[in-house]
Amino acid sequence: MKTLKHLFDRNRAWAEEIERDNPGFFAGLARQQSPEYLWIGCSDSRVSANQIVDMLPGEIFVHRNIANVVAYSDVNCLSVIHYAVEVLKVKHIIVCGHYGCGGIQAAMQTRDQGYVENWLCHVKEVKRQHAERLQNLDEHARFDLLCELNVRAQVCNVKETGVVQAAWKSGQELYVHGWIYDISNGLLKDLEVNG
Ligand code: CO
Repeated sequence: MKTLKHLFDRNRAWAEEIERDNPGFFAGLARQQSPEYLWIGCSDSRVSANQIVDMLPGEIFVHRNIANVVAYSDVNCLSVIHYAVEVLKVKHIIVCGHYGCGGIQAAMQTRDQGYVENWLCHVKEVKRQHAERLQNLDEHARFDLLCELNVRAQVCNVKETGVVQAAWKSGQELYVHGWIYDISNGLLKDLEVNG
């Protein structure tokens, strides 16, 4: 059986480099985590949360799924939001989509996508809600716009969760952001749907 030795080698080198720059770093983190940010992003291998915003372990709490969807039927995502807000008391929830998202592209198709349909239906719903606006665009512009509209829709879903509503009612400091990442240049854009 292969053991992916090269990954263990890289891991050791990475941990040593961090310890060299910040002695005691891992021992400190082992005692507690207190991230200020919850990142809800896409599972795509090109959109790694910590790397995009250049953050170390301990700085960002992360949930990722295909097309950065926040669905009320998803116990996983809702549990992450709940824990991040109630226990970790993050100050910011960032929903970050990206251009060129395979999940969004699949949701634009009319043909059956197989099992993943069960998930893409959430994005197809966004597409349906904005059908008129989307239909007048060429394919590239339509794709980009649906990537953005999906972020906006998921931001709304985050804001409407019971735990976020309760946090705001109690005066807890909590902001929700919608961002989009451009895989072609590595840069983030704020969609300014902050709340
Ligand atoms: Co994606």
